[in-house]
Amino acid sequence: MKLHSLIIGAVALAFSAAAAAQQPINIKFSHVAAADTPKGKAAEYLKKRAEELTKGRVNFEVYHNSTLYKDKEEVEALQIGAVQMLAPSLAKFGPLGAKEFEVFDLPFIFDNYDDLHKITKGAVGKQLMAKLEPKGIVGLAFWDNGFKSMSANRQLKNPEDYRGLKMRIQSSKVLESQMRSVGAIPQVMAFSEVYQALQTGVVDGTENPHSNLYTQKMHEVQKHMSLTNHGYLGYAVITNKKFWDGLPADVRGQLEQAIADATDYANKIAKEENDQALEKVRASGRTQIYTPTPAERMALKKAMLKTHKEMEPRIGKEIIEAVYKETGFDPGKL
Ligand code: LMR
Repeated sequence: MKLHSLIIGAVALAFSAAAAAQQPINIKFSHVAAADTPKGKAAEYLKKRAEELTKGRVNFEVYHNSTLYKDKEEVEALQIGAVQMLAPSLAKFGPLGAKEFEVFDLPFIFDNYDDLHKITKGAVGKQLMAKLEPKGIVGLAFWDNGFKSMSANRQLKNPEDYRGLKMRIQSSKVLESQMRSVGAIPQVMAFSEVYQALQTGVVDGTENPHSNLYTQKMHEVQKHMSLTNHGYLGYAVITNKKFWDGLPADVRGQLEQAIADATDYANKIAKEENDQALEKVRASGRTQIYTPTPAERMALKKAMLKTHKEMEPRIGKEIIEAVYKETGFDPGKL
């Protein structure tokens, strides 16, 4: 009798272990950009690959456009395990204590995607991701978005044109310094609130890659846009370390592959998505698009360069110099 119930108990246990093994692993991926952006599309691609490669062992849910959490909340949600993956912009890692990520925000530090990839695909990128581990976060990949344009309700040609404008920025001290360098008044604000703030005049202008500007309809409430290409905006895909380390090794490996595939995809579509968004803004006729002359762009670059020196103590001289070395940027050569 005793033996009999022991066997029954063991069988029941084996069944429940097997059932637990069959339970899908839920991954919630939350982000603030629209579905129809490089990040939104890459997140959907990641979902597809993650579910395919794990043969359904992972149930992957994507929440676009701040529908689950806004900027600050999403990072807190990741830390307590309420979501498992995010891809915040590199300008939003300061509040997490990883101030070094703000090196990506330095104005004019990257001329193009090739220069940027020397960092995101190289040793400096790895070094930056390693800074997240002591904070209980694992950096999984860098995803491209693109180069920013400035927008406002007045034409922006010369550095003086920015004077006195209230400009919405992401939560980066480097962006704060960049805006102050041309006499603008920076205002940190969650991405989800920008459209309304522009519409009601709480802020006068902002900066963003075209895909973000267009999908948030900012062009409807900004009369002017200047193709300044003065800075970069991109993402780091991150996860909770405890969650990641607790995954079955085979699932983790499959997810790593899914992320590698989604990264290739994100970086392949980013430029084209932004180019197409610019054409849509142009076609809308709502915003006047201005291309600065080389001399105007140089004047902006010279004015904003002081941010590099000013932010040295915050970012770390070694990191800034490591980026200069990789990209060939020489502040003395302007
Ligand atoms: C912003 O806040 O402007 C961007 O970081 C939004 C995003 O995620 O692209």
